[in-house]
Amino acid sequence: MLRRNLLQTLFTPQVAAVAAPAANDFHFSILGDRTGSAQPQIYGRTLREIAMLAPDFVVNVGDSIQGHDDSKIEAQWDEVKAIWARHLTQKHYSLAGNHDVWDDRSAALYTKHTGFPLHYSFRHQNALFVMLDNSRTDALDAGELRFLEAELERYKGASPKMVFCHKPFWAVPLAKGDTSFPLHAILRKYGVGHLISGHQHKFIRTVKDGVAYMACGSSGGDMHGKLLRGEGFAQGCFYHHIWARVRGGEVRFMVRELDGMGGHGRMFAAEDWDGAPRFDTGDPGIAGRPAT
Ligand SMILES: [Fe+2]
Repeated sequence: MLRRNLLQTLFTPQVAAVAAPAANDFHFSILGDRTGSAQPQIYGRTLREIAMLAPDFVVNVGDSIQGHDDSKIEAQWDEVKAIWARHLTQKHYSLAGNHDVWDDRSAALYTKHTGFPLHYSFRHQNALFVMLDNSRTDALDAGELRFLEAELERYKGASPKMVFCHKPFWAVPLAKGDTSFPLHAILRKYGVGHLISGHQHKFIRTVKDGVAYMACGSSGGDMHGKLLRGEGFAQGCFYHHIWARVRGGEVRFMVRELDGMGGHGRMFAAEDWDGAPRFDTGDPGIAGRPAT
């Protein structure tokens, strides 16, 4: 009898705990592009803010090195890895950008220096993150789409599900109302709530058929050309990072513009940007009509 009670004590609660679905309650940060042409003192400031917020982990949307020069590639990875090491103690998930990977050698060095393959998925609590590679293509090729479907099939019960790819090839068709690209059908089929990219050095967000498409803009990469053409905050051109809060099946994104020399420190909820900001860009806080 004693032995049976001991066995029940040892195993029954543990079996119940394993069977229970994981309850999500965590934060993560999204880090945007550093290149082409890393701007002085911007990326480090972004990393400093992210580190002070203490997310559970960081997701990098790619373009961490300038690249496209075989003689400098190893030194460039050593340089950015030193910056990461100086600021970040959190787990840091990489995504391949076109400045990071442009041929087979740079792809191998990307994996050597970041520790990540070109595509992979990971779980955090009950959430699923799928990281895809379009560093050398614009859209996602058939192999990437097959990998995505396989991961979504394998982790059907995960919630929420988020998919990342560096180039926001979806932005132009969606702006024209075109949802016929294959990725959109896959995201809808499997209940993926968020597709997140980088690359353009501008914040983009639009929602189609329940899927929120978002691009994190520059966390240190050059925006001078856009600014000279008259683009600014309302067109998504500002240095920022994104703070994500996952609770249960819900994920909320808060966009944080740098302050100091890098911006005006404006903060807004990502859902308040639908194609364009739906708030006073001079003072996002005024919409809340603060009483005091
Ligand atoms: Fe890029």
